Amino acid sequence: MAHRMSYRMLIFVILLLIQCRFEFTNVNCTSLNKKFGECEYLYLKSVNRTYKYLSGKFKLYQLPVKALDVNFVLLKRFNGYKPFLYNVTVNACKLFVNPKSSPVAKFFYDSFLTFSNMNHSCPYNHDIIIDKLPADFINHRLTQLLPFPHGDYLVEAYWSRSGSLFAMVRVYGSLS
Ligand SMILES: *[C@@H]1O[C@H](CO)[C@@H](O)[C@H](O)[C@H]1NC(C)=O
Ligand SMILES: *[C@@H]1O[C@H](CO)[C@@H](O)[C@H](O)[C@H]1NC(C)=O
Ligand SMILES: *[C@@H]1O[C@H](CO)[C@@H](O)[C@H](O)[C@H]1NC(C)=O
Ligand SMILES: *[C@@H]1O[C@H](CO)[C@@H](O)[C@H](O)[C@H]1NC(C)=O
Repeated sequence: MAHRMSYRMLIFVILLLIQCRFEFTNVNCTSLNKKFGECEYLYLKSVNRTYKYLSGKFKLYQLPVKALDVNFVLLKRFNGYKPFLYNVTVNACKLFVNPKSSPVAKFFYDSFLTFSNMNHSCPYNHDIIIDKLPADFINHRLTQLLPFPHGDYLVEAYWSRSGSLFAMVRVYGSLS
């Protein structure tokens, strides 16, 4: 643990000296239980050199949703993608009741929350939409809030409803 902390401190110092830039590189949404819901779309769009965003819509069947968990796993590419530092689960229904419960979970969740229609407590009576999440917003979070080393990253988000896994979303990005 002490070793890992000092490693992160070192990275922090290095990153203060280097300008980093985050880009989305790929996305993938897979429904694992079509009874619960399906991905309608998930895509990346490049408007111009500085404005690139991610948009997605997941259709939820069997509304309302009263229990929703999202497990975020961060992976970094070394020799293939390997789990890297974070594996956190967010109770999407409780986060607004106790937003300080887990800072790391909140970090991942907040990274798309502002641009989604999930910014309220359960129950959810609607499809899940992420609308134009800008790469720059993630760039700011990765380089200013929690400094990360350069590399290729993958965030896997496993969505469960009442303990039952129903979707997996993969977002690939690079920090260079
Ligand atoms: C998304 O990932 C799934 C599971 O790994 C795969 O079967 C599917 O072909 C991928 N979809 C796209 C559009 O790449
Ligand atoms: C990129 O597109 C956005 C949104 O249309 C616009 O506000 C911005 O000025 C554009 N940037 C450049 C460099 O063209
Ligand atoms: C993440 O943590 C969960 C719960 O502890 C565990 O079941 C899962 O295997 C972990 N995932 C990875 C990729 O390590
Ligand atoms: C949720 O998003 C809407 C629309 O962007 C905004 O008006 C509202 O203040 C947000 N609510 C919270 C709790 O962040």
